[in-house]
Amino acid sequence: MTVDLQTKQLANTAPLLQLEHVSISPKKTPSRLLVNDVSFAIEVGKTTCVVGESGSGKSLTALAIMGLLSKQLQLNSGKVLFNDADKGIVDLTTLDAESLRKLRGDKIAMIFQEPMTSLNPVLTVGYQIGESLTTHLGFKGERLKNKIASLLEMVGIPPGRANSYPDELSGGQRQRVMIAMSIACEPSLLIADEPTTALDVTVQAQILKLLSDLKTRMNMGMLFITHDFGVVADIADNVVVMFRGQIVESGTREQVLSNPQHPYTKALLACVPDAEGEKMLKPIDYAWLAGEQTGAVAAEVIHE
Ligand SMILES: Nc1ncnc2c1ncn2[C@@H]1O[C@H](COP(=O)(O)OP(=O)(O)OP(=O)(O)O)[C@@H](O)[C@H]1O
Ligand SMILES: [Mg+2]
Repeated sequence: MTVDLQTKQLANTAPLLQLEHVSISPKKTPSRLLVNDVSFAIEVGKTTCVVGESGSGKSLTALAIMGLLSKQLQLNSGKVLFNDADKGIVDLTTLDAESLRKLRGDKIAMIFQEPMTSLNPVLTVGYQIGESLTTHLGFKGERLKNKIASLLEMVGIPPGRANSYPDELSGGQRQRVMIAMSIACEPSLLIADEPTTALDVTVQAQILKLLSDLKTRMNMGMLFITHDFGVVADIADNVVVMFRGQIVESGTREQVLSNPQHPYTKALLACVPDAEGEKMLKPIDYAWLAGEQTGAVAAEVIHE
C-alpha cells in the first residue's frame, strides 16, 4: 500500500515559521516572564531543535505557536509568522479561535510531551487517527479506512491494529499512533515536544528515524523540543538553546555543537557522557550563569 504524499510548495522564500520577540507571563504577574523575547525561525523542510533544561520555556513556546497557552498565561508581546501555502504569511497571534483551530491538525500539527494524556482511552486508535482527516479534509467511508490503514503502515504498525484501544498498545506503538495522527493531514509544520523521552533508547532511535524520514518525504518543517544533545546531533539542522525563558545561543547544528559560544551551552554539552563513559560530568554553575551576562549574550545572539 502506498501513500500519496504531496510536496507543498511556497510561493516565497521566507521561513516556514518565524517567531519574533515572543514573551509569555502568568496573567496575574505580567512582569514574571516565563518566555522572554524569544525569536527564531524554522525553514521549509528543515528541523530546528529547541534545547534547554526542564522549566526553560520550551513547551510554553510551542504551545504559544499553536495558540494553546493555558488560561492562566498570556502572550505579552511578539509575532508568530506562519508561511501558509494558500494565504501567504499570517501572524498566528492575530487569528481568531476558529481560524487557529482550522490550521491545527491540518497545516500545523503537534506531538505533545505526554502522549498518554493526549490519546483518548475509550476510542480506537483508528478512530483517533481518522478524526482530523474527517474534520479538515472530509474523508469518510472506504477512503477514510484506507487512509488510516496506510498511515498506520507508514509508522510501522500493522493496519489491523486500527481497532485497538490505546491501552492495548505498547508505549512505542502509542507514540507511533501519535505520529500517525499528527501527519494525517500532511502538515507543513510539525511540532514535536520531547516525543521520545518516555521510550527506551532502541525505540527512541526508531521513532527519530521515522520522523526524519517523514520530514524528508513530506518536506515538512519541524520544531523538535528536547533536552538531549544526542538527539540534537542526530536530527537538527538548526539549534536554539534556551535558559530560564531566554535564548542564550542559536545557530546551525555544527556551529552550536562544535563551537558553542555561551557558557550554558558549553555546560550542557559537558553534561553529555561520552560513549566510553570516561568523560567526567561537570556540574552546571547556575548561580554564575544566572548572573548578568546571560541577558547580554542572549541579546547579542538573537539580533545577530
Ligand atoms: N500555567 C502555568 N502557570 C504558571 N507557570 C507556568 C505555567 N505553565 C508553565 N509554567 C512555568 O513556566 C516555565 C516554563 O515551563 P515549560 O513547560 O515551558 O518548561 P519546559 O522547558 O518545557 O520544561 P520540561 O523540559 O520540564 O518540559 C516553568 O517554570 C513552569 O513552571
Ligand atoms: Mg516541556
